[in-house]
Amino acid sequence: MNANSSNSLLTVPSGALKIPEYPPNDAVRDNPVLLSLVIPTYKERDNIQKVVSILSRLLDEAIPGNYELIVVDDDSPDLTWEVAQSLMPEYPQLRVMRREDERGLSSAVIRGWQAATGSFLGVIDGDLQHPPEVLTQLLQKMIDGADLALASRHVDGGGVSSWSVIRRFLSRGAQVLGLIILPGVLGRVSDPMSGYFMVRRSAIANNTLNPVGYKILLEVIGRGNVREIAEAGYVFRERTEGESKVTSKQYVDYIHHLIRLRVSTGRLGKIRRKVNFPVKRFLRFGAVGLSGVFVDMVILYLLSDPTTLAWPLTRSKIFAGEIAIFNNFLWNDAWTFADVSMQQKGWKLRLKRFLKFNVICLAGLVLNVVVLNMVFNFLIPNRYIANFIAIAVATIWNFWVNLKLSWRVTEVK
Ligand code: GDD
Ligand code: MN
Repeated sequence: MNANSSNSLLTVPSGALKIPEYPPNDAVRDNPVLLSLVIPTYKERDNIQKVVSILSRLLDEAIPGNYELIVVDDDSPDLTWEVAQSLMPEYPQLRVMRREDERGLSSAVIRGWQAATGSFLGVIDGDLQHPPEVLTQLLQKMIDGADLALASRHVDGGGVSSWSVIRRFLSRGAQVLGLIILPGVLGRVSDPMSGYFMVRRSAIANNTLNPVGYKILLEVIGRGNVREIAEAGYVFRERTEGESKVTSKQYVDYIHHLIRLRVSTGRLGKIRRKVNFPVKRFLRFGAVGLSGVFVDMVILYLLSDPTTLAWPLTRSKIFAGEIAIFNNFLWNDAWTFADVSMQQKGWKLRLKRFLKFNVICLAGLVLNVVVLNMVFNFLIPNRYIANFIAIAVATIWNFWVNLKLSWRVTEVK
């Protein structure tokens, strides 16, 4: 048995979590490859063989001999690493790393990349929840020049199979929170929670990555030099073997991660360049918003003015706001976001957009009512000026969150 066909484990890199600009020299392995795909595992004994076999078959066809699969196992008690190791003779492109001193999904991925020889560095879960077929699409987008190609649940062809309302809500809630804390990073992709993507080595080399918890993509976008991003839709499948390692700790880690990234990458100019703010769209949204202001003001007058119905201010405002929301949706769907709506035809999808728009605007309306009352009661005792200020605050919220969720606009190539 020569060194190549032996099934020795990869040495675990130590020190800073930094990807070298050039692949490490490794006499045991052959030349640098195009793609190094890391498969992080923890207790995936019953999945690993199937994953390796499917991925090998796909990649043998697409880029024979020009890839490597790197299983990075955190010393799983079910001996996943050992099962993986036993597959090496059958799969010559497979490498296995067993980490005994460090733990955690994100650092596992980075350690794998540090030992990788590829120009494209990728990651895919080891539990078959990420459909392997999407891999060839991601690869093609990288070959076509993207710096980062990610599989997204929130573009055409994407979705989640049978998530509970609660899990969907938590996932979206995490996204909204991220958009608020770190718009320059989360605003660039439709699915910032994705754990299935590829990135060009040169885009992240020499930057020390510093992730907490699960969301390594945030780290890559936040600290790397990623210019062009491409996305491909995928459906997040149900697990058949093993179980998810996500616990409430991951949510706490996530928030911690957002804040840390925010603080350490707080260069305004860089963020502004990265957000690529859609000015034209915002102007249209603003114009539609103005028509809404008019509707809102008229209804508010009709309901609450002492000379008309003289309803209480809050009740009047809720009615006025909801009618304005309906008005705005019609205009936005037909004009501001026409390009997006055109691709999502049918009354069902339209209804879905309206419901999302409504929920987001209702949150905006709550904000609106709170601001209105605060301004009216404590600052300016004029209901129209107070209403105007309240509307301005809510408009910014409405535009940003609707852009990211209702019409799902991302720079998809
Ligand atoms: N080495 C290592 N160390 N691997 C781990 C660890 C760890 O501490 N924790 C989890 N993994 C491996 C799992 O074995 C699996 O292969 C993969 O990482 C994902 O873990 P799951 O526990 O199955 O996560 P999930 O299915 O809930 O969420 C995944 O998919 C989401 C959607 O793309 C993750 O990739 C999320 O980051 C992602 O948002
Ligand atoms: Mn999973």
